[in-house]
Amino acid sequence: MSTVASQPRTAIKGGAIYRGGTGMLTWLLHRISGVAVVYFLTLHIFEAMNLFGGPAAYNAATDAYKQPWFRPFEVALVLAVVYHALNGLRVAMFDYWPQTTKHHRIVFRIGAAIFVLIALAVAIVMLRPLFSLSLAQIFEVKSAGSLIYALVIVLPVALPVLYIAWRGSGLSTGPMIVSPSSSRPAPTMSRFENLAWQFMRLSGVVMVLLIFLHLFIMHFTNDITAITGQFVFDRFAATPIWIIIDLLILFLAWLHGLNGLRIVLTDYIRRGNARKIVLAVIGLFGLVWLATGAAVLFYVQRGLGA
Ligand code: HEM
Ligand code: HEM
Repeated sequence: MSTVASQPRTAIKGGAIYRGGTGMLTWLLHRISGVAVVYFLTLHIFEAMNLFGGPAAYNAATDAYKQPWFRPFEVALVLAVVYHALNGLRVAMFDYWPQTTKHHRIVFRIGAAIFVLIALAVAIVMLRPLFSLSLAQIFEVKSAGSLIYALVIVLPVALPVLYIAWRGSGLSTGPMIVSPSSSRPAPTMSRFENLAWQFMRLSGVVMVLLIFLHLFIMHFTNDITAITGQFVFDRFAATPIWIIIDLLILFLAWLHGLNGLRIVLTDYIRRGNARKIVLAVIGLFGLVWLATGAAVLFYVQRGLGA
């Protein structure tokens, strides 16, 4: 099924040239935000593994997020998820109901307006606590470890994004490897690829609800400074349903994210041993991280280490 949102890519040797326009820009931002969230989720599961060491170990592992100057980066993360989710819903709508592509301009404008409104609300709620702090308090570094970990969270995403923005802005010469389409048509040659394509869309729709609820609890009903190891143990003990919800987010987000990463990487690494190695690493690492992430949740649920 080929729609306006999923036209064939304009291939040239080494990729496709970035030509600007909303279709390409939304596609590029979707790809960047997706890969950035995969990276965050990898670290996020690693941080959760510290719950095996009890609340204090978890607090030490997540200190970086409690530094006021780190707040804008958390806002950026939430906005990356919001952008990716809204654009993903738009793409899925065009793919399943091709007749809606007739109205693609208005759909884009409505999506953009919703994004701006959510972004304003997120920025106000998350940054407001900073307004009552002095500059010294805002720029306080909790420890050398939390500064280094903050850089580990931010730099691997920020540096490539700045590089891509620089190349896309025309400051540099040479083609940028992007696709001119917002999405891809459902693959028909392979049953596995077709199922994976359907999974990306269905898991995305379900995750919108689950992840927004997760973020709402972590950033709106609580301030990030209140999200401690004890908070996690207490909320699992008080409301056992959280394990089901977290397991569902873990399963869907991790599989969706890794399958997305596979699509992105194999777009650029088209054949040969490098491709096989990339796929094997994603598969193996994906399984180990998924199993450990689930084990953490069962551990917390049983009240062990609290
Ligand atoms: C919150 C709800 C979400 C929705 C509605 C959504 C939707 C989508 C859709 C429709 C696609 C296009 C798939 C395709 O072209 O075959 C996609 C791709 C992708 N998603 Fe998501 N997604 C969501 C959350 C996430 C999360 C949490 C992650 C990371 C853990 C993620 C990572 C990716 C990646 C890496 C891609 C591949 C991008 C590409 O091919 O250029 N997504 N998403
Ligand atoms: C900075 C924003 C975020 C904060 C403060 C946060 C906080 C937490 C906390 C405290 C937990 C421990 C379990 C619990 O209490 O539910 C957790 C688990 C989890 N979160 Fe988040 N979260 C954030 C963003 C996200 C995003 C964007 C995703 C999805 C891409 C996500 C996916 C998960 C998953 C899958 C788990 C379970 C981890 C495991 O099984 O090891 N979180 N989060």
